Amino acid sequence: MSSLRALAIASEMAPFVKTGGLADVVGALPHALADENIELRTLIPGYPDVLATLRAGDTVLEFDDLFGGPAWVHAARHHGVVIYTLIAPHLYAREGGLYTGCDGVDYPDNAFRFAALAWAGAQIGLGADGFAPDVVHAHDWQAALAPAYMHYADHPRPATIVSIHNIAFQGKFPKALLEPLRLPQRAFSIDGVEYYGGIGFLKAGLQLADRITTVSPSYAREIETPEFGMGLEGLLRARAGHVSGILNGVDEEAWNPATDTHIETLYDHWSLASRAKNKAALQKRLGLRVEPDAFLVGVVSRLTWQKGLDLLLEVLPQLMSGRAQLALLGAGDEALEEEFAAAESAHKGRVGVHIGYSEELAHMIQAGADAFLVPSRFEPCGLTQLYALRYGAVPIVSRVGGLKDTIIDANEMALQAEVATGLQFSPTTAEALAMALREAERLFGDAETWRKIQVSGMRTDVSWRNPARRYATLFRDAVIAKVG
Ligand code: ADP
Ligand code: GLC
Repeated sequence: MSSLRALAIASEMAPFVKTGGLADVVGALPHALADENIELRTLIPGYPDVLATLRAGDTVLEFDDLFGGPAWVHAARHHGVVIYTLIAPHLYAREGGLYTGCDGVDYPDNAFRFAALAWAGAQIGLGADGFAPDVVHAHDWQAALAPAYMHYADHPRPATIVSIHNIAFQGKFPKALLEPLRLPQRAFSIDGVEYYGGIGFLKAGLQLADRITTVSPSYAREIETPEFGMGLEGLLRARAGHVSGILNGVDEEAWNPATDTHIETLYDHWSLASRAKNKAALQKRLGLRVEPDAFLVGVVSRLTWQKGLDLLLEVLPQLMSGRAQLALLGAGDEALEEEFAAAESAHKGRVGVHIGYSEELAHMIQAGADAFLVPSRFEPCGLTQLYALRYGAVPIVSRVGGLKDTIIDANEMALQAEVATGLQFSPTTAEALAMALREAERLFGDAETWRKIQVSGMRTDVSWRNPARRYATLFRDAVIAKVG
């Protein structure tokens, strides 16, 4: 297996900076691909959090003026992999979030903040610092201009791949930014960066990259339809031969109930009875009644329309009519945050809600909940249902995207064959969700069947091994296709 050099470009990377699953995936890929003989380096923005945790390293590139100020690329080794940080104080030294200010509104200069990331990535891609990667892998709209910059550079370039983690965010900006973004006039066409009269960052990447991937086979098909493609379905259909879906894996060290430092009691699928202590610890922590027999449903999620948690609010009265409890950790839309806080007061001792971000509580919920709910309207892959599998919290998921691809529904046949790992429901409506919750509670009442579902889930391979092999094949194919 020949060795390959690759550069990933992304706006988030765990453990340095994270708002969602993208960071987990970008953080895991360099290690997963090292086993495939691929050296994957990663370029991320030098946000304050990144600079606080990552040592500075060496300066490998300098820009006198990168969209309004001087900038540098530092390279540092972290746990054996090289991380490039784009230091650009005028773009990233801010107090708010990664994408929005303290007021929750998008930064007005996001086009330049992420064009800068893509531009710096393109320079590394074209060999400026001597690394000279064979492949450049751009994640989501924030990195997606990189293939475009290299395409228009009239210079030998590496193979390019764009990965879609969430097509709902596309980076669309006015046409007037063409020149300020250093894009040539000829780029403004239907086969370039033009998108519904403006400039589309993700569109440009999807149009100009050699290969497109997304994070599950089902989502790869779904985004070719108007319902899920969000305006990009036509382009994706036209390029269907170059689109593939590769499931995410999970970090097996961070998410392992046999070694997890965040949970009350360690366990594995041989010692499932020990989960009871984690359930009690979770109930205490969230102010729930400590009832060993309650059917405890867990949720860890961004609170946005995508995640379908408004449907859970709708069916909550029905859920509360049985012996169920709810443990929810989440943050996001203010209205949803308020409604869940209100639900907690309305159902004292039966609904426990923590609004905010907590790595520890996320682990406690996986280890203590009986079932784990992901009722998304769309879900490119989803990681939390994979963690739930590892922790024996039976996933209840909507039948979309990666949720459909990773959970085996407990229908009659699957139960008989003892292969079921969770429950799926469809369509993503309150009625279907209510039915799935009722069915899950019924199955939970049959301790032997429930245990079998838990064990099948815990034995499922959700590691990076298979996905890494598929990425490696894709990288190598892209390089060969480019040369050929
Ligand atoms: P998405 O990226 O769409 O949010 P994923 O399921 O791929 O969905 O990834 C979500 C990641 O963020 C998981 O690692 C999950 O545990 C974590 N997460 C989400 N919300 C919170 C929260 N409030 N506190 C801690 N972790 C969270
Ligand atoms: C996005 C998607 C999620 C996916 C994650 C990592 O945030 O919403 O489904 O798991 O990216 O690929």
